[in-house]
Amino acid sequence: MELKHYAVAGIFALSAAIPGIATAADAAAGKARAAVCAACHGQNGIAQIPTYPNLAGQNEQYLVSAIKAYKNKQRTGGQAAIMQGQAAALSDTDIANLAAYFASLPADGGK
Ligand code: HEC
Repeated sequence: MELKHYAVAGIFALSAAIPGIATAADAAAGKARAAVCAACHGQNGIAQIPTYPNLAGQNEQYLVSAIKAYKNKQRTGGQAAIMQGQAAALSDTDIANLAAYFASLPADGGK
C-alpha cells in the first residue's frame, strides 16, 4: 500500500517535471512578448524604418546573444542605447522565447 503511494507520488513528480523540460524556447510565448518589439522591428519582424534591423528568420542563437549583449550593456555604439532600454526588462526565458519567435518568421516577411 505504502509502496503504491510512493509510485503514484513518483508519477506526479515526473509529470510535474515535464513542463520544466519546456525550458526549450517557446515561440508562442515569444510572440506574445513581441508586441512591444513590433513598433520598431515590424509585426512580421521586418522593420519599417530602414535604419532599424529586420529580425525575421535571423539565427536563433544570434538573436539570444545579441539581446543579452544589449541587456548586459556589452553591445554599445550605433543605436545600441535604444535596444539596451528594450532589453533591460527581459528575463532569460523572455529572450529565449523572443529569439525562437523571430527566428521562426519567414525572412522575406511572408510575401
Ligand atoms: C524603440 C525601437 C525599438 C524597439 C521597441 C525594439 N528594438 Fe530592437 N533594435 C532597435 C534598434 C534601433 C536596433 C539597432 C541597435 C544597434 O545599432 O545596435 C535594434 C536591434 C535589435 C537586435 C539586434 C539585431 C541584429 O541584427 O544584430 C535585436 C535582436 C533586437 N533589436 C530585438 C528586439 C526585441 C526582441 C525587441 C522587443 C522586446 C526589440 N528589439 C524592441 C530598436 C528597437
